[in-house]
Amino acid sequence: MQPRNLSNPPYEDIVVAPPEAGAALITLDRPQARNALRTRTLRELAEALEQLARDDDVGAVVLTGGPKVFAAGADIKEMAQLDLVDTINDPRQSYRVRIDRFYKPLLAAVNGFALGGGCELAMQADIIIAGETARFGQPEINLGIMPGAGGTQRLIRAVGKSLAMKMVLAGEMIDARTALRAGLVAEVTPPELCLERTLELARIIAAKPRLAVRLAKEALLKAFETPLENGLYLERKSYNLLAATEDRQEGLNAFLEKRQPLFTGR
Ligand code: CAA
Repeated sequence: MQPRNLSNPPYEDIVVAPPEAGAALITLDRPQARNALRTRTLRELAEALEQLARDDDVGAVVLTGGPKVFAAGADIKEMAQLDLVDTINDPRQSYRVRIDRFYKPLLAAVNGFALGGGCELAMQADIIIAGETARFGQPEINLGIMPGAGGTQRLIRAVGKSLAMKMVLAGEMIDARTALRAGLVAEVTPPELCLERTLELARIIAAKPRLAVRLAKEALLKAFETPLENGLYLERKSYNLLAATEDRQEGLNAFLEKRQPLFTGR
């Protein structure tokens, strides 16, 4: 059985809501610091996702922030205390890696500012839905530094060279519509509907055959880092693997019998 007590361990910087119809919700909750991502915040996120990964009731997770700020980036006050050695040994890197390892679909519902490490966190999600007021930026250059948690690598893959260069080198933000046109976000909604729409999408995904979702996510992510031939090979292997699942049988039968499928994740 999986742990059901989502308040254990007690979190300070995030709120974890139990899953509804397969979708769990994590809310960044440090409004006084504009959801700046201190070490504790990233540790809590990594731990919460690992707990949700073990929970069979969870098919997808939504990550959100506040109405005006998704996350204002790395905690600059904390960062200012770190010298070179501390920076090299910074445990936040390992928490980011643990967040990346979350194998279930992770969706980000972004309202307001997603800056620096906050934009990088949104890009760790598989799907970003943005409210119309969302602003995405990598303003690290204004602090004498550069993105250090995926901002140069994931942004350029999402929006292309020219826009990524502008955002990282000039520190200029882009609005939600620009992010949509560039491919950084999947949808733009009125701000008050952003979270609900993202949860709806998460519930839709959670009702799909879980093994197919898992293998499809893995194959899609590999496309960024794998030569085409190897990516196609992985895709074919994963596709073949699904032929042994009960959900495939159910999906095909349901279509032929003109009824809705009922997937069990087996
Ligand atoms: N780290 C720490 N504290 C932060 C913070 C951050 N990134 N962003 C905001 N805060 C704090 C402010 O210091 C302030 O604290 P006090 O009340 O103690 O003075 C409080 O949050 C409110 O801040 P503002 O008055 O600035 O709030 P606002 O609503 O007027 O503006 C904002 C919001 C546009 C997000 C603005 O706060 C801002 O620009 N923040 C910094 C954004 C930034 O530069 N991010 C990049 C960080 S570096 C990074 O992310 C590197 C990496 O990952 C590797």
